[in-house]
Amino acid sequence: MTKAVGIDIGGTGIKGALVNVETGELLTDRIKVDTPDGGRPEDIVQVVVKIIEQLNPGSDVKVGVCFPAVVIKGRTMSAANVSKKWIGLEAEKLFEQALKRDIRFVNDADAAGVAEVRFGAAKNVDGVVILTTLGTGIGSALIYNGVLVPNTELGHLEVDGTDAEKKASYMAKERENLSWEKWAKRLQKYYEVVEALFSPDLIIVGGGVSKSYEDFLPLLKLRAPIVPAQLRNNAGILGAAALAVHE
Ligand code: BGC
Repeated sequence: MTKAVGIDIGGTGIKGALVNVETGELLTDRIKVDTPDGGRPEDIVQVVVKIIEQLNPGSDVKVGVCFPAVVIKGRTMSAANVSKKWIGLEAEKLFEQALKRDIRFVNDADAAGVAEVRFGAAKNVDGVVILTTLGTGIGSALIYNGVLVPNTELGHLEVDGTDAEKKASYMAKERENLSWEKWAKRLQKYYEVVEALFSPDLIIVGGGVSKSYEDFLPLLKLRAPIVPAQLRNNAGILGAAALAVHE
């Protein structure tokens, strides 16, 4: 069995577990810690160090970390829901120094997309698949015939003159106390823009709220089938772990 650790850093929480990357099963309980206020690099790195200490993987076990920003060659190039100090930072190196080991460092929604391809709703699906995560922000993974096109950032598409995630993320629903129906109207507009631009064959909806998919997915009328992520909120952990092991 090949094991790896997956760590999923989000705007609200940081989660980690040891994973069987052949089957996509979690081998330990999921450790979850609130993201430190302000989302500053040094504070987030410290939380990740503590989670790894708790999981205590052997030195031969690979570690994958996913993060809510554009990641190019280990550098974080954006920061929508974390401190702006991340912009331009050599984040992968920072984690490697603190953890005293090599890691794989990728965008969070990309990790979730890879997990759904390997173990979930996008397994053996040909054509264009778009996964969106509805959480603190909106993340996206664009997949064509099982291959990921990284860093798509479709949560920042402009819809009605506004950054889409500000109106249509799960956080927007919570912040504005929107009913499922009202939120679904915003999602409908958002996914119409996504469809007009990318003509996906399948849309997958992830993030914690995807466990309540029956409350809002049936309200959406789109050309492509739109389905909940199968791995729910563990997709980031599983994808980061899987990417740590395979290119
Ligand atoms: C960020 C993305 C991230 C998404 C979900 C967005 O605000 O720009 O990089 O994938 O949130 O966390």
